[in-house]
Amino acid sequence: MFEPKKLFIKTYGCQMNVYDSERMTEALGGQGYVETQSPDDADMILLNTCHIREKAAEKVYSELGRFKGLKADKPDLKIGVAGCVAQAEGEEIMRRQPLVDLVVGPQSYHRLPEMEAKTRAGEKALDTDFPEEDKFEKLKSRPKAKRGPTAFLTVQEGCDKFCAFCVVPYTRGAEVSRPANRILSEARDLVERGVREITLLGQNVNAYHGARPNGDMSLAGLIWELNKIDGLERIRFTTSHPNDMTDDLIEAHGTCDKLMPYLHLPVQAGSDKILKRMNRSHTAESYLRLVERIRAARPDILMSGDFIVGFPEETEEDFQATLDLVEEVRYGYAYSFKYSTRPGTPAAERPQVPEDEATDRLHRLQALITRHQREVQDDMVGREVRVLFEKAGRLEGQMVGKSEYLHAVHVGGANVTSGDLRRVRITASGANSLAGELV
Ligand code: SAH
Ligand code: SF4
Ligand code: F3S
Repeated sequence: MFEPKKLFIKTYGCQMNVYDSERMTEALGGQGYVETQSPDDADMILLNTCHIREKAAEKVYSELGRFKGLKADKPDLKIGVAGCVAQAEGEEIMRRQPLVDLVVGPQSYHRLPEMEAKTRAGEKALDTDFPEEDKFEKLKSRPKAKRGPTAFLTVQEGCDKFCAFCVVPYTRGAEVSRPANRILSEARDLVERGVREITLLGQNVNAYHGARPNGDMSLAGLIWELNKIDGLERIRFTTSHPNDMTDDLIEAHGTCDKLMPYLHLPVQAGSDKILKRMNRSHTAESYLRLVERIRAARPDILMSGDFIVGFPEETEEDFQATLDLVEEVRYGYAYSFKYSTRPGTPAAERPQVPEDEATDRLHRLQALITRHQREVQDDMVGREVRVLFEKAGRLEGQMVGKSEYLHAVHVGGANVTSGDLRRVRITASGANSLAGELV
């Protein structure tokens, strides 16, 4: 009898890696692989890596070292590294860890089937090129497998912004948009397979400018086209850069019914001096005016953001400016990070802020963000939201889904299934989620 080979894939980093892992799993499905949840019975192990943080590569090497025993027991086991560490380290990975059979950069996933065949023939396979062709087009999905209610869809990849701290322009390459018609047909296909909510992905998603026969289409244009798809209920997108928040996109937040009132708009810092040194090309003031315009278009929008503290030369006064900005915006959600040096980026060469100072600032910023997050959540109590249910909760009979604002909402004892979109009254606010009852 034909025994499928087993693929164990471990995903780190951003949502784009999650999307890429799905595409890689599908591509290897064509080679006779099915996914397994454990490395122990795998015929191939793939680490889909992230390079955004310091020591990311070191962590990958130590993770790889742990597969030594497995490989000794099962010489046929193939081990691969994908993602941004693969792109950054390339051949070095095989040199440092000879048990690695395959290294594939984010732009070469469509070549995985040939690469896998090569490893089966006992050879090493390496591909970290930036090829011209649309890899996603070559990674067309398998026959219509049923899907859960939410899905990611990559529309744009890479970045030309070169923020002084960031490796993404080097690991993901130059900014490229996928043609609009391909995205739309992929979206229709997802909806046919049960998807109700699509999150459009890009490192700089609002810079999207996809080719169409009659000229380029903006992200807002694409969202309006998606809005027409029957059965698709919700549209989201991430991550946006403040400078690419165009008028048509701001307006869409007020007028496009399927576009959800949630916007992730990283600012990174509140001091103009630091923003300049980060090469962000916006000021605190221009960011705040932008948020004002977005809120004028959609008053209930929930803003989320990213922050870096302890960037080189950040003084206590600069940090205060970040706290002031946070105080003014009141984010419903925000991620904050201590600056960590990425070799090869401009900021890596600059005088660093002492570790304990950066840690202290991070704690202060996180305390403020958490307070706002709780306040925004608590304000939801008594309000009615619409919840797209996704899965069973931890308690018996409980279902969990997301509100328009991306809050996780638990509902107990209700007769709902995954994929249902229902009106819910919020009754309580917890540490990281809300509770409610069907209306
Ligand atoms: N394209 C997005 C996000 C890219 S990475 C954007 O433009 O905002 C996600 C987040 O990781 C960034 O927003 C930043 O806050 C953080 N980050 C990136 N490089 C970092 C570094 N060297 N040190 C600390 N945080 C970093
Ligand atoms: Fe990195 Fe800046 Fe590009 Fe975002 S905009 S991916 S932070 S370089
Ligand atoms: Fe990480 Fe690469 Fe995404 S560095 S955050 S996996 S683009």
